[in-house]
Amino acid sequence: MRFPALLVALALTVAALAYVLLPLFAPELETSGVAMVGDEILLPLPSKVTALTVEEVILLRKSIREWRREPIDVAQLSMILWATQGIVEYAGFGWYRRAAPSAGATYPLEVYVVVGERGVRVGAEYLRAGVYKYDYMRHSLRLVKEGDQRVELWRAALRQDWVRDAPVTIVLCAVYERTTGRYGERGVRYVHMELGHVGQNIYLMATALGLGTVAIGAFYDEDVARIVSAARNERPLYLFPVGVPERPHRATFEDLRGLYERLRGGSREPTEPSQPAVEQPGEELWGPGQHTSG
Ligand SMILES: Cc1cc2nc3c(=O)[nH]c(=O)nc-3n(C[C@H](O)[C@H](O)[C@H](O)COP(=O)(O)O)c2cc1C
Repeated sequence: MRFPALLVALALTVAALAYVLLPLFAPELETSGVAMVGDEILLPLPSKVTALTVEEVILLRKSIREWRREPIDVAQLSMILWATQGIVEYAGFGWYRRAAPSAGATYPLEVYVVVGERGVRVGAEYLRAGVYKYDYMRHSLRLVKEGDQRVELWRAALRQDWVRDAPVTIVLCAVYERTTGRYGERGVRYVHMELGHVGQNIYLMATALGLGTVAIGAFYDEDVARIVSAARNERPLYLFPVGVPERPHRATFEDLRGLYERLRGGSREPTEPSQPAVEQPGEELWGPGQHTSG
């Protein structure tokens, strides 16, 4: 073999070896789209990842309270956090428009995440268990408290088991003054309306990702504030445990059509659903008129 041909063969062999071996040495965090900057966790950036249409997701949305003993993926957590308060565009004049509407763009909500031990998978590893605060401007997380806080949170949420058992719980807090500062007392209702928008975004994104969630309004405010290390003016208002549903919920527009046809035909007694609604343990605690807190 002539000398240049030998060189080319050698170069090709080295390139082939590098192609095969390099991924083995690449840090797992990089391949998962997560990067660390000091103590900040830069989440994978939002992208189009789900295949369902909005009408399918609305049909499939359901409060889920039983989870498989499985983690969720950091890419899924990233999409859910983006749906809470993530940025959707720069709208000019220093205003970064977000995923949910806000009265006067006052954006009173702050988002914390309680991550259980092995609750969020990052490649072959897991996020450290603890409480994180979401930075919507950088789409990142910062650890504010180390250690699995799920049992504490379960106690604070009137021992609702779905809070203890979920790998992750999103905690939505409000800084009322941001909105009441502009709208006075009326700002209080605006904050609650905005909270509902964000809550629905969490439900829909979780459903589209094949995950499940349930809105939790019944908890001891002071206890939850302490658990997530909320600032004095950040008031916890809503919890959303998220996990992989034990039983995926099924629903079709065909079945729905049948249901409407029976209702229009005057029958108020539709055939029983294939998955009957289960009476939830502890319903007396958070059912109508019983919201307990403080
Ligand atoms: C403001 C609010 C507070 C709620 N609080 C709780 C709660 O503390 N615990 C719980 O298990 N479900 C809670 N839920 C979920 C409701 O029970 C659930 O949405 C309702 O039964 C309707 O079922 P669906 O969400 O599957 O359509 C709450 C829902 C809302 C809107």
